[in-house]
Amino acid sequence: MVSHLLSKFLHSGLVTLAGALALAGPALAAGGGGSFQQPANNDVSNVASLQRGARNFVNYCQGCHSAKYVRYNQLARDLGMTEEQVIGNLMFGAAKPTETMDIAMRPADGLRWFGIAPPDLSLIARSKGANYLYNYLRTFYVDPKRPAGVNNLMLPNSAMPHVLWDLQGLQTAVFEEEEHNGVRQVVFRKFEQVSPGKLSPGEYDEFVRDTVNFLDYIAEPMKLKRQSLGILVIAFLLVFGIFAYLLKQEIWKDVK
Ligand code: HEC
Repeated sequence: MVSHLLSKFLHSGLVTLAGALALAGPALAAGGGGSFQQPANNDVSNVASLQRGARNFVNYCQGCHSAKYVRYNQLARDLGMTEEQVIGNLMFGAAKPTETMDIAMRPADGLRWFGIAPPDLSLIARSKGANYLYNYLRTFYVDPKRPAGVNNLMLPNSAMPHVLWDLQGLQTAVFEEEEHNGVRQVVFRKFEQVSPGKLSPGEYDEFVRDTVNFLDYIAEPMKLKRQSLGILVIAFLLVFGIFAYLLKQEIWKDVK
């Protein structure tokens, strides 16, 4: 009975995993050559990373993007911070910890300034995936033809400026024409750094990973609880399985 349950449990886990892989496939394939894309490798159970990510978000993203489904006091609870720490480190515009991560910029202004209003980022990790976000923030490159002077490999002609340029530095992208079955297409070859940033490439990747980790967490705060609950459930099943086995031995001992 227990082993049956356990195998069922594991089986459904495998099915979910297979489904997730099937979904991840086309997402990774999109956006051209693919050679520049790296997995985000973020971990929503890493609280220190989430705290750094929250700080990055507040300092570098919230000027334009809201996260209007997220309350400051929920952040305090989930990220192991006191309300005072949240007020001191994360709340610059809001008045009360019960408020959500809104912004002062009106969508109409965003539309006027950028031609497209910066989207709310509460659920962006769910719609685009952590890997996409990780690569989006790493693949801005200099393009004088664009209004903000930069373009992006994941979202060609993105209206977002490269807001992390002082950290990453600036890079140009080298494209080459290739012929595939008689069809000429332009493919991305490599980046060339034109000015250094304050962070080394490795440090910049960590900075982006923390930021994406935070976006991943706010898109599904329940993920944190579900993971720890899942471990408890499996531990319980294992321990319960041992006792059930011992009990069965005990009961059948005299029958044999
Ligand atoms: C100066 C304003 C500004 C800041 C600051 C800013 N963004 Fe954006 N962002 C935009 C605009 C404008 C768009 C819409 C781009 C488009 O759809 O062309 C956008 C779009 C996005 C998207 C959606 C991309 C897609 O595929 O649809 C993500 C994700 C994003 N921003 C993340 C961030 C993160 C993370 C930060 C902080 C590190 C940040 N942004 C900071 C203006 C900004």
